Order: sequence, then C-alpha cells, then structure tokens
Amino acid sequence: MISLKNKRIVLGISGGIAAYKSAELARLLIQEGAQVQVVMTDAAQEFITAVTMQALTGKPVFTNQWDSRVDNNMAHIELSRAADLILIAPCSADLMAKLSLGLCDDLLSTLCLARDCPLLIAPAMNLQMWQHSATQRSAQRLLTDGVSLLGPTSGVQACGENGIGRMLEPSEILEEVVAFFQTKVLQGKRILITAGPTFESIDPVRGITNHSSGKMGFAIARAAVEAGAEVHLIAGPCHLQTPLLSSGKIIRSDVLSAQQMYDATLASKNCDVFFAVAAVADWKIDKPAQQKIKRQGKTNLDLRFSPNPDILSEMAKIAKQKGKPYCVGFAAESDRLGLNTKEKRVRKGIPMIVGNIGPSTFGSEMNSVLIVDASTSKSIGPASKLEIARQLIALVSKRL
Ligand code: CTP
Repeated sequence: MISLKNKRIVLGISGGIAAYKSAELARLLIQEGAQVQVVMTDAAQEFITAVTMQALTGKPVFTNQWDSRVDNNMAHIELSRAADLILIAPCSADLMAKLSLGLCDDLLSTLCLARDCPLLIAPAMNLQMWQHSATQRSAQRLLTDGVSLLGPTSGVQACGENGIGRMLEPSEILEEVVAFFQTKVLQGKRILITAGPTFESIDPVRGITNHSSGKMGFAIARAAVEAGAEVHLIAGPCHLQTPLLSSGKIIRSDVLSAQQMYDATLASKNCDVFFAVAAVADWKIDKPAQQKIKRQGKTNLDLRFSPNPDILSEMAKIAKQKGKPYCVGFAAESDRLGLNTKEKRVRKGIPMIVGNIGPSTFGSEMNSVLIVDASTSKSIGPASKLEIARQLIALVSKRL
C-alpha cells in the first residue's frame, strides 16, 4: 500500500553534513507516493548539489527567492500554498534559530513563515550545538509554535564525537511522515495491548515458550499511536524495540509468564480498547523446581501442568459489566480458519476477533487475516503487519 499517495511535500534542505541523506529521503518519499519539491539553502548546496535532488525528484530545485520560473515571482507563497507538508531534513541550528524567531532572509525560511500547512523538522548538528541553551530555546519555541521535531538521535557524529544531535535515518523520517498523515481516529483513547509469547518456568534455567515474535502486537501499538491514542503495551519475552514516534509515546511493561501478563493487564483494565495479541500459554508447570532438574539417574521426566488464567475472557467479563474496553482477540489457527475464528469469538464473549493461519506467519513481516465481528467478516492481506494494523485500527475506531 502506498501511504503518501498524492501528498505534496516540500522537502527543505539546510546546511549540514546530513544533507547527503536527503537524497535517500527524497527517494523514499517518492517511492511511497509523495510528490516532492525540493528547496535548498545556499549552505545546503555546499554539501549536496541541486542536480542530484532534481534528478531524484524529477523536478527543478528551488534555491532562490527571486526565481523567475514563478510567474508572480512569489516562490515563497506559491510553494507553501501548494504543499500538504513542509519537511526540513536536515534542519541546522542556524535554521532552527531563524524559524523560532520568524526571520526570513532566504527562500526556505520565508516559505516556512508564509505557510499554512504543518512543518516537521529533523534537526542535525554537533552535540554541543544541540545542547546549547540557545538551540534548546529555539526547539522549545518551535514546539510551542506547533512545529514537530523529529529527533535528533544519538550516535557517532561526522565531527568524531558521540552523542545526541544526529539526524534520524531517512527510513525513520519516512515512518514519521507516514505516521503524521494517519487520521487521528483514536485521539484521546486509551489502548491496551498484549503482545509476544509467554514463558512458563520448569526450573530456574528452563521453560516452555512459543514462536510468537510479537510483531503483530507491536505493529498495532505503532498504528494506535499514529491514530492519536495513548498506548500501554504489555510484552512477553521478545527482542523488539518499542516503536518510537515523535507524535506519541508507548508505555511498555515487560513480563514473562501468563500470570504476570494477566496481573499487568488487569492493573491497566481501565482502557477504551483491549487488543489481546499475545500468544499466551494455556498451561503452566504446577510446581516449577527451585533448583535445576538434573538428568543423572532419570530415565524420564514427568511434568504436571495447571491452567493459566484466560486474560481475554476476564477482560471480556469486565467489558460486559462496565461497557468497556472494546475487546479484540486474536486466533492463530492451523485449519478451518473461518469456522474456528467465529466459534472462538463467541466462546471468548468478545465483539471482534482477528484470525490467521499460523504458525507460518510467526516472525514474518507479512500476514493475511480474517477480521470477524457479529455482523461482518473481512479479509485483509497478504499485507505488511503494519498495514493490517492500520486497517484494524480504522475498523475498531468505527465500532467505538
Ligand atoms: N488468550 C488470553 N489468555 C489466555 C489464552 C489466550 O488472553 N490464557 C487470548 C489470546 O491473546 C488471543 C485469544 O485469547 O487473543 C485466543 O488465543 P488462542 O490461544 O487462540 O485461544 P485459546 O482460548 O487458547 O484456544 P485454543 O488454544 O484451544 O485454540
């Protein structure tokens, strides 16, 4: 799915070594369907040429306020009027200071002042420059003025130092831009998500788990933040990074066992939507050994199991009493997808369930799902888990 179809983006480039990454950024934006018009400052052209940017975007680059290609000679008005978004990457300390004061002595700063569309900036500079109180003042002023700051992030810098000030990678900036354009259908809603596998101890060094990667649950967390929600993500043992978006924050709780996941979920039961995406172990070891179970002298090993609590069913009971949360379950089935998914939705007492054929999708970036509620069923995919998550969020928001 092309997420930036028909979006008109002015890509501003200011002077900084990260300007070489703007070429890749322009390419990614265009791949995602955006129409990109590049505007460069004089300093930017010391780092990357307008020819490069023109070749990548297929459009002449604007570098000068007095550009005679614009009929009325008001490039600053014409360019900003035609844009859905102005994105400046990299944004230098100098340009941040100018924008925060409303100075406009070149085309890029002037069109920012003349804009009536949102402005996103991706700061990039040496760490002392970023940490300087003057730059921090600029950042605060810009935030107050409604400008969104993407990054900066930490890492090795071109000047040889290691610290905060690096521009986000082009792929990360692209994700921020895509997130920015998502409709805020869950604004002000609290979303609770369980994700990943659980781990049931046998002894202090062994346990039973499953192949769930957590990717679907994390994708839903990202899509929910993109849609403006406050998100609490309860994750079983998995190595995924919490999605990071400038527009919102995900609170993450890491748990191991199903019982811990149950306790963490119930402690956050006061939410608007609950997505039970985790592959929760149905059984736990009755009495895990306190010491490592030794092999010597044994010809077999008997383990006794007792049932784990059913988190989703418990949340469904709460929803019946209180009218919320809206509960969405997941069903990884090996066969008879439609039948098993529909039956599970009724058994769990929930309004919506998402079925898929596992375990082939465990760990994959792609999935195909069947979304079932009381009146309809809808197939989505094959598509990326993030794309499925976005469509699911859109559907759930309509049911709230
Ligand atoms: N689930 C849960 N707590 C459990 C078991 C499952 O919250 N102890 C949730 C899962 O997160 C998922 C849904 O219930 O959203 C269905 O999980 P699944 O394992 O497919 O269902 P089960 O009830 O365990 O049914 P079965 O294993 O017999 O198919």
